[in-house]
Amino acid sequence: MRPLRSGLNVSKFRFICLRGANEQRHSAAKQGSERGFSSTQELRDVPGELSSADQVTVHFINRDGERLTATAKEGESLLDVVVNQNLAIDGFGACEGTLACSTCHLIFEKDAFQKLDAISDEELDMLDLAYGLTETSRLGCQVCIKKSMDGLTVRVPMDVSDIRRQLEAGKQSKQ
Ligand code: FES
Repeated sequence: MRPLRSGLNVSKFRFICLRGANEQRHSAAKQGSERGFSSTQELRDVPGELSSADQVTVHFINRDGERLTATAKEGESLLDVVVNQNLAIDGFGACEGTLACSTCHLIFEKDAFQKLDAISDEELDMLDLAYGLTETSRLGCQVCIKKSMDGLTVRVPMDVSDIRRQLEAGKQSKQ
């Protein structure tokens, strides 16, 4: 197991997903202004709501085997999906996407895993400390939704650990 890097700039990783979403919004807005908003789809869309073209369906297999189906938006992280859709996944996303807990650990099917964006060293460090690690594990707060993910199914591992508690316990035992 590799040592956890100190001084993680956690806000940077949260920003990456959000920046992607913002770029998509800017791009869509620019396209709209270039086209003079002639699309009826554009006119029907209510700000802040998903048009069917933007919707991506994602399934979570919870620890008890229950399938939770959510409607996601391109650019959201899987953590955003769980939070925004109020999915009942116990303890998920305890650090709110700041790459400090690993409670957002998710297991992907092999095909889907291979299509994900590259993993950062910081995410790897955090995954090393997650319970039930597999070859297709990722952290949900670091995986952003793309349209190509429509129908994605991810599994919530049986055990969850909040790494912050482990690190805190380690510090106290050294004192
Ligand atoms: Fe804590 Fe993802 S929510 S590492």
